[in-house]
Amino acid sequence: MESEITIRPESPREFSAVYDLVRVAFLSAKISAGDEQDYVSYLRQSANYIPELSLVAYCGDQLVGHLMMSKSFIRPDRVCVPRLEPFRLLLLAPLAVELRHRKQGIGAQLVQNAFQRAAQLGWSAVAVVGDPAYYERMGFVPAARYGIYAAGDRQMYEPYLLVKELTPGVLDSVSGTIDL
Ligand SMILES: CC(C)(COP(=O)(O)OP(=O)(O)OC[C@H]1O[C@@H](n2cnc3c(N)ncnc32)[C@H](O)[C@@H]1OP(=O)(O)O)[C@@H](O)C(=O)NCCC(=O)NCCS
Repeated sequence: MESEITIRPESPREFSAVYDLVRVAFLSAKISAGDEQDYVSYLRQSANYIPELSLVAYCGDQLVGHLMMSKSFIRPDRVCVPRLEPFRLLLLAPLAVELRHRKQGIGAQLVQNAFQRAAQLGWSAVAVVGDPAYYERMGFVPAARYGIYAAGDRQMYEPYLLVKELTPGVLDSVSGTIDL
């Protein structure tokens, strides 16, 4: 019988195991830059790192998944008055589940668990760049629906840039660009 999945914030003693998990997981990703494990290390050193929202999933004593949500913001379009302040939200990246433990709902559990923790910490929205076929199951919708786009190559990211409100309606008055 499969053990229950435990999800909790990562701790420094796990950083090396997380690095290996993310590296190997992305070898089989549909789309990968090949350096997601280094991105995790980079984020931990940055001001955008949120230790409480960098989660590990365990099946028994085996590390089987990892997710990070870090600080980001939507910069309002110049024409968008009266909202001139950047809108703070979370960026979900990366998400990785160990190959042999896939299709058991661990990715979805990690995302839902992170949503709950994020809401408790006062965050109201999350963005992700990912496969809509996967993330729309978890309530993400195309960011373009709100007039939210990636800074830089808007067109390239448009099909993959998705957002999820943790506070219903919070994005209704938000539009602009996210630096990815
Ligand atoms: C994507 C990933 C985290 C999913 O983990 P998981 O624990 O298997 O996810 P879940 O069990 O919650 O969901 C599995 C379902 O999502 C589907 N799915 C997985 N990746 C998908 C993708 N990129 N696009 C569409 N569907 C996808 C699976 O086929 C499965 O479908 P089913 O329920 O109809 O069988 C895992 O496959 C992984 O680590 N992939 C490599 C890293 C990666 O691509 N991360 C970014 C995701 S955009």
